[in-house]
Amino acid sequence: MPVLTSSSSSSSFAFTCLTIFLLLILHNSTAISSSKTAANVTHRSRQLSVNYYARSCPQLEQLVGSITSQQFKASPVSGPATIRLFFHDCFVEGCDASIIINSKPGNKMLAEKDAADNKDLRQEGFESVMKAKAVVESKCPGVVSCADILAIAARDYVHLAGGPYYQVTKGRWDGKISMASRVPSNIPQANFTVDQLLELFNSKGLTLEDLVVLSGAHTFGFAHCRNFVSRLYDYRGSKQPDPAIDQRLLRALRMSCPHFGGNADVVAPFDVTTPFVFDHAYYGNLEAKLGLLASDQALSSDPRTKPIVQALAQDKQKFFQAFAVAMEKMGSIGVKRGRKHGEKRKDCSLHML
Ligand code: HEM
Repeated sequence: MPVLTSSSSSSSFAFTCLTIFLLLILHNSTAISSSKTAANVTHRSRQLSVNYYARSCPQLEQLVGSITSQQFKASPVSGPATIRLFFHDCFVEGCDASIIINSKPGNKMLAEKDAADNKDLRQEGFESVMKAKAVVESKCPGVVSCADILAIAARDYVHLAGGPYYQVTKGRWDGKISMASRVPSNIPQANFTVDQLLELFNSKGLTLEDLVVLSGAHTFGFAHCRNFVSRLYDYRGSKQPDPAIDQRLLRALRMSCPHFGGNADVVAPFDVTTPFVFDHAYYGNLEAKLGLLASDQALSSDPRTKPIVQALAQDKQKFFQAFAVAMEKMGSIGVKRGRKHGEKRKDCSLHML
């Protein structure tokens, strides 16, 4: 069995090995295509607008696009990394790039990025924003927020990986508060029940449908063993594996992820069929008991979410349109405007203060 680590450059080979291995043992024949779709989005937030930088930085989207396409080519994991970064930013203090701020050396109060729940966020997501910001600053100094760059980059990667293209509304300012202590209560855990997920999503103004649709981002990317290992050996204290996991997937994952003492860097793909493609395979996988996290798999058994999973599994365009709308909605959480609450950071990792 190949060893998969998330930290080395040879990891892409290892990822491929696991994927091939799982492909061999799992006869999931979901047909996947990576066709591109333009989705028309209803803009919910009154504060944001698509043309926000039309005068001050008309070439903004091309500038960000030059970096995201380059990064995606060099390292496709930049896609899932940046979309997850956007999610973790928006859920803590709103979409204000507070997640990118570095902790101050010597200060006991750590910044968001150093919270335990954010330790797994890949560097590629941060790098994408920092590089895009540098290019944007060279052409439009002091004008564009890091928060807007993150929202644009996330959209770019969804599209580059085969998902929908949608217009991104802009006008977010960067937040001034970034505290690790505010992270745990705002980021969902892999073992959350549907009730817990729903409570958290509702608290952000997101619905049951948004929860199921946004979870579809787990159609690409990877998770470390520690986030699902208890499902494999001792599901909710039962000393048994989760009954809602396919037996062949269970065997394959157990080979990579021992109950105790495994390599902490080992990861497994969310979607064993197409781990780098943004498609709707996630939902078909849930129906086939091939979900990776307990929180994913729970969505296809709960009577409230099951019908949504079924509908999205059947219709890729429906998922793409719903995802574009839900990303826009998530991107409007806790938006800041003006100097009282916000700033436009030149270096996204450093406070202007
Ligand atoms: C519904 C509740 C959610 C839970 C419990 C959850 C949990 C997780 C966990 C545990 C990982 C694996 C991290 C690791 O081991 O490195 C992960 C990865 C990921 N999550 Fe979520 N997540 C949720 C919702 C979302 C949402 C709403 C999005 C985006 C819209 C998202 C996007 C991603 C992506 C793209 C990855 C892969 C990252 C990579 O490969 O670098 N997740 N998530």
